[in-house]
Amino acid sequence: MSVIDIDALRKTAEEEITAVSSGQALEELRNKYLGRKGVLAGLTAEIPSIAPEERAAFGKKVNALKGVLLAAFERKQASGTAFCPSGGAVAGVDISMPGVGQPAGSIHLITQVAEEVTGLFARMGFSVEEGPEIENEFNNFSGLNIPLEHPSRDNFDTFYLKSPGGGILEEKDGKLLLRSHTSPMQIRVMRSRRPPVAVVVPGRVYRPDAVDASHSFMFNQIEGFLVDRDVNFSHLKGVLESFARGIFGEDIRMRFRPHFFPFTEPSVELDVSCIICKGKGCPLCGRKGWLEILGAGMIHPNVFRNVGYEPSKYSGFAFGMGVDRIALLKYGIDDIRLLFQNDVRFLKQF
Ligand code: PHE
Repeated sequence: MSVIDIDALRKTAEEEITAVSSGQALEELRNKYLGRKGVLAGLTAEIPSIAPEERAAFGKKVNALKGVLLAAFERKQASGTAFCPSGGAVAGVDISMPGVGQPAGSIHLITQVAEEVTGLFARMGFSVEEGPEIENEFNNFSGLNIPLEHPSRDNFDTFYLKSPGGGILEEKDGKLLLRSHTSPMQIRVMRSRRPPVAVVVPGRVYRPDAVDASHSFMFNQIEGFLVDRDVNFSHLKGVLESFARGIFGEDIRMRFRPHFFPFTEPSVELDVSCIICKGKGCPLCGRKGWLEILGAGMIHPNVFRNVGYEPSKYSGFAFGMGVDRIALLKYGIDDIRLLFQNDVRFLKQF
């Protein structure tokens, strides 16, 4: 019986062991080769019928094969086997074990609202861009026509960055600070690109305010601006009306109140009719019937000069809103701190 090719047999067995992809299949294979009626047992039973001069060599080979297979099964077992979609084996994974439940997370309310708002503007053709939270004085103030003596440049209203030695950090565009609004992205974008531009910028901003139900040292804004030839106030109105209807519903009413911002002229604040009482007056709106939701205006010619745009050629509008405030209004939440405490019992409601 020296016709039995033990080397070929060994090769086949090793390939089969490698290919196995479940614990059960591995057991079956072990049985096939090493079981009581298995291949190896069959070979051993053949030994007496082998020609005497070949018997010893054959016996040795069968023994060696047994050793090799035992080792191969052991290795496969130790690596762990599991079925995976590609059909291969994954080391260390036993799919017969019960899974570990993973609580599903969800998107934070602020992110949900920010995405809803930026999504509305994206559909109107605005691109969505983010900027750095560490800014310099030029982008945060001077570029935006905010004069040196403006109170918001004081230490009390802006977080300036200090070196380990205690001095305020400075670079060529002025002192470094945590941006106090998202408007510096107007400067960054306009300095690096020619009109037409239409961009919305979601992001965190920082002001040294004492924390209470409606204030936080960090909050979220969305800036928007559009510059092209012949842009006028009615474009701003139309865009903001689409936004307000999209967020608060079709029956919302709007009103513009005159306001002042150094970087827009004319400047306005936008109120929407109270989403609770629809304008009749209630505690949410302080019985006024209106809720203030954003600041806006036509971009000041000085801002255009500061970024190298010709004020005679281009015009544009800008607006900025507090995302947290819109989230609070939209969901009737009465304390901004709830948005930052990360209490899952609160967050999982949204
Ligand atoms: N940056 C202003 C603020 O934080 C909001 C604003 C943006 C107003 C753009 C007008 C135009 O209060």
